[in-house]
Amino acid sequence: MTTVTEVRTEHIITTGLPEKSDRITVEEDELSVLGLADIPLPPPSKIPTEVLSIDKPTPDHHVPRDPRLIRLTGVHPFNVEPPLTALYDEGFLTSPELFYVRNHGPVPFVRDEDIPNWEISIEGLVEKPLVLNFKEVLQKYDQITAPITLVCAGNRRKEQNVVRKTKGFSWGSAGLSTALWTGPMMADILRSAKPLRKAKYVCMEGADKLPNGYYGTSVKLNWAMDPNRGIMLAHKMNGEDLTPDHGRPLRAVVPGQIGGRSVKWLKKLILTDAPSDNWYHIYDNRVLPTMVSPEMSSNDPNWWRDDRYAIYDLNVNASVVYPEHKEVLNLATAGPSYTVKGYAYAGGGRRITRVEISLDKGKSWRLADISYAEDKYRDFEGELFGGKVDMYWRESCFCWCFWSMDIAVSELENTDAILVRSMDEALSIQPRDMYWSVLGMMNNPWFRVTITKENGTLKFEHPTDPAAPGGWMERVKKAGGDLTNGNWGERHEGEEPAEREPEKTINMKKDGVNRMIDIQEFKANSSETKPWFIVNGEVYDGTAFLEGHPGGAQSILSSAGLDVSEDFLEIHSETAKAMMPDYHIGTMDKASLVALKNDKAPVSEETRAVFLQSRSWTKATLTKRTDVSWDTRIFTFQLEHDKQTLGLPIGQHLMIKVADPVGKDAIIRSYTPISDTNQEGTMDLLVKIYFDTPTVKGGKMTTALEKLALGSVVNCKGPTGRFEYLGNGKVIVSGKERRVRSFKMICGGTGITPVFQVLRAVMQDNQDPTSCVVLNGNRQEEDILCRTELDAFEGLDSKKCQVIHTLTKAPDSWTGRRGRIAEDVLKEYATPDGESMVLVCGPEAMEKSARKILLEQGWAESDLHFF
Ligand code: MTE
Repeated sequence: MTTVTEVRTEHIITTGLPEKSDRITVEEDELSVLGLADIPLPPPSKIPTEVLSIDKPTPDHHVPRDPRLIRLTGVHPFNVEPPLTALYDEGFLTSPELFYVRNHGPVPFVRDEDIPNWEISIEGLVEKPLVLNFKEVLQKYDQITAPITLVCAGNRRKEQNVVRKTKGFSWGSAGLSTALWTGPMMADILRSAKPLRKAKYVCMEGADKLPNGYYGTSVKLNWAMDPNRGIMLAHKMNGEDLTPDHGRPLRAVVPGQIGGRSVKWLKKLILTDAPSDNWYHIYDNRVLPTMVSPEMSSNDPNWWRDDRYAIYDLNVNASVVYPEHKEVLNLATAGPSYTVKGYAYAGGGRRITRVEISLDKGKSWRLADISYAEDKYRDFEGELFGGKVDMYWRESCFCWCFWSMDIAVSELENTDAILVRSMDEALSIQPRDMYWSVLGMMNNPWFRVTITKENGTLKFEHPTDPAAPGGWMERVKKAGGDLTNGNWGERHEGEEPAEREPEKTINMKKDGVNRMIDIQEFKANSSETKPWFIVNGEVYDGTAFLEGHPGGAQSILSSAGLDVSEDFLEIHSETAKAMMPDYHIGTMDKASLVALKNDKAPVSEETRAVFLQSRSWTKATLTKRTDVSWDTRIFTFQLEHDKQTLGLPIGQHLMIKVADPVGKDAIIRSYTPISDTNQEGTMDLLVKIYFDTPTVKGGKMTTALEKLALGSVVNCKGPTGRFEYLGNGKVIVSGKERRVRSFKMICGGTGITPVFQVLRAVMQDNQDPTSCVVLNGNRQEEDILCRTELDAFEGLDSKKCQVIHTLTKAPDSWTGRRGRIAEDVLKEYATPDGESMVLVCGPEAMEKSARKILLEQGWAESDLHFF
């Protein structure tokens, strides 16, 4: 047996040197002596060591990455594909730095010194539960090395998204990569824990903690035990230790199946009698029937729980690489033929048995040449990177193959598209038509590259471009083509363009109102007490809604005399917009609108003592970002000068406006800062980031804040809110003053922020006799925000301040309350006494259920305030 680690290193180093031709002769000699000359070895690789500046402010601030990778979901989480041509040009094996990455959340931070003690447990339906450390995984089990292609189930999804938006983000056709993986067979590890007879599934769990728990999924136990299926654990790719993005230090590799089953940062193997009930197993990696719309799937969880729609084996697929997207072939200088090239793969170990090309819309096909680099490893005997290459007996194909075909340039000149389809050994063949589904996975229709003749050149276009808008699909759609008409959206002769779905518009005008209002009349009727304002050129009088506005009278008063179209449309719901006809009084003439626009808003003064202005936006600069947890940050903003205070009454909020990094409009949301409102020079916002998940788009504002670079400026306006705490039990609600002896504060997640302002005001004033009970509901212990401060207030005076935490997903070690904020806890701590008020802030569902219970328990609506 030969050991080849050193030779490989040499290979990599030498091919990187300038005197390549001299060195290669020597090297090839060496390789052939070792029987390696024929197997494709990893491409030259330079694993990055620097963290890119774009990643520094993210939870992945410890992960060095290659800047060539195309980010498909913004900066974070890291979901990337390599440029298709660069991927293909690296050859059969992909370097770790160019290998596609699919991370649902932050990359676990694993220090070098902790790796030997990285533990995985084998538990569940086993006779002998086991915990193995990393060293044992390497030393106690035979190590193998095998080439395996991983493919994300979302590969080519952008095409589905152009047809109709799915719940997934847009991959081009480079969501796949191939490496030599080294590690033990999963079967050997499972065997040592002695699976019980009733064990049918292997559930895997990673160390990455996500909004819906740790990432996890399952495969069938008999697959894991079947040597033909080649399921393994890996600690090396291409002879290098796994990089953080690819599961360092240990991951599962499940050949022939969608990449989603190859769990990274592996911590647990749990044998069960049913498929995994992990959230990511249920709500990810499925192809639901095509008629199930995103709305249907959200309304009925049964669609997700039907195991028939889960996907395991990859389906047959192919993509053209050359000609590249936007490649231009100059007919004057082109040779007689052009070599069209690309890749193909199939699932479940099935071989690609043919790749076919058509130049006449699929009427006739010709066969491409295929090279199967993977087969070279079947003849190899020996060890590679510390693992035995043991493939001679196994017939399954777990890697992509490359195909090519020479086509006469004259033929390319006379057609409008190159069509490619592949077939596997089960005779599964790529379909002409797309099978659209709600997650947009497993997209595999014929790959079509269009050809346009332009000034003596041929211009090629792929269906989509993952890095930018473009591609023939978008072009055809824009021109009114129906992409699902079986003809790639091209209209048949005489066919009418497809009708576009009309945009939903809400009428905000009152029938019969046709008074014209000029700027003089408008100004004369707009004052600090009489709010006339303009939206989309229409004039509204908000006086009658001053009391009813959920944001408090001030939110309307601050619009008085202004054109608030942008802010209004951004922050108001469809329901709110539908109420507008009641307040519509006329239309402003065009000249007056222009005059109003030029009537500049007051400029902020460097010397103003107070930052917030109710009628104009003032600018704060992001100077610091502190990670409180993987998804919660404190953003510190610099006000206009060091002595300035925010100017926010206790219990009120401010509006923050930032540019939308995706769309073109601004995003506006209300926040209550966590910092003391008397703090000079800065304010701190506590924000939980709602990241995108595979099925749910993340929070527009919070993901935009997450992407803000230090030094960015945001616009602020305020205060807003119907509630204000004046101190000593005195409150103002909707302009009316009243007294309370105690507050019952009900909150969840970041809903703590307005509650916290009031609580702090009470606790900081020794003379304030008001007592407070805080009922704080969260999922897990780490979700409890401001816990140290809350406990400190309770420690200061437990009669005045009582804090009750309740968790819905508490660990066994949790001694506090469990469950939601429901009848029992409210009965115990929040019974009505005629002298108290309830302050509530949390997720909508929590607020709704709290309102219902509190009213049932005898609280008057006027004693409840929802922030
Ligand atoms: N494992 C964990 N723990 N967390 C993840 O987010 N993503 C899965 C899988 N394993 C994921 C994971 C998905 S969807 C894919 S396609 C592959 O990892 C991608 O592997 P790669 O990032 O090494 O290419």
